[in-house]
Amino acid sequence: MFHATLHQLKVFEATARHGSFTRAAEELYLTQPTVSIQVKQLTKAVGLPLFEQIGKRLYLTQAGQQLLDTCQRVFEGLEQFEMAIADIKGMKQGQLRIAVITTAKYFVPRLLGPFCQRFPGIDISLKVTNHQNIQERMANNEDDLYIISQTPEQPDLKIHPFLENPLVVIAPKNHPLVGQKNIPIKALSGEQFIMREPGSGTRQAVQSLFDEHDVEVKVRLELGSNEAIKQAIAGGLGISVLSVHTIISEGTTGEFAILDVEQFPIERHWYVASLAGKQLSVVADTFLNYLLEESQPMAQKLLPDIKLATTTAVDEVDPKLVASGK
Ligand code: PGA
Repeated sequence: MFHATLHQLKVFEATARHGSFTRAAEELYLTQPTVSIQVKQLTKAVGLPLFEQIGKRLYLTQAGQQLLDTCQRVFEGLEQFEMAIADIKGMKQGQLRIAVITTAKYFVPRLLGPFCQRFPGIDISLKVTNHQNIQERMANNEDDLYIISQTPEQPDLKIHPFLENPLVVIAPKNHPLVGQKNIPIKALSGEQFIMREPGSGTRQAVQSLFDEHDVEVKVRLELGSNEAIKQAIAGGLGISVLSVHTIISEGTTGEFAILDVEQFPIERHWYVASLAGKQLSVVADTFLNYLLEESQPMAQKLLPDIKLATTTAVDEVDPKLVASGK
């Protein structure tokens, strides 16, 4: 029978995550010798080395990797248990981890405000990044819920669409195409264009539409943030295609105009997703239900000025994409 204390497993997990005794010690407020003694004792209990040291960094052995996977399951189970007990006691309490694509940062924090007021015992960590990084986080099971606008082939997900997320052509207010109707998409050929970074879902959607219509824009600049792109547009560096949510706070009265280009908006939706094999915690399930109920009314309050310019209602989305049961 394998004998290890929960404390040893926590020390091991932190060491594996950081690849370093020193960094694990810092995180856990322990001394470095204490951490290495705990790992030594655990190694003895397992009967096989858990780490290999190459240079300064520690790498997991096969046994170490198996133990790490087991630790993660144990900790997750305990966390779920704590939340379930709090729920039985009539409280919603625990940690909620959400990772969202860059455009959702313009909306999700607005929802989180009233959610946190309603459930003050829930602590939230919100990670904002692009689709490629979200997919990596999914592969490592790092979060409870994800907000995305295109679904990866892997891993298997349960998904629910909840709001439109159209992509529009954004130009500075004084651009010569502003005010023209039904601009042919070909007219964008040769325009100075500002593109999102590789790994961005926005970039992928734009690129495939341009490829489909043989449009070749001059990519003047590649930027890893919607806000930076807006600054570049305002600075006269070119035009871009961004989610309409990125300019909602400015409206179309600010420095930007939405060009009326054929084939636009590119109609997309935000989906809330979780790993298909993962049992949602009480807290994650509470947030999921809140999001599905409150996002439409909240959007109507926040987005009255900008027509989302899409005729696809959320419930008209391909039913294959919609998880059953919710
Ligand atoms: P991205 O996704 O940050 O990966 O470009 C944004 C979106 O699809 O709305």
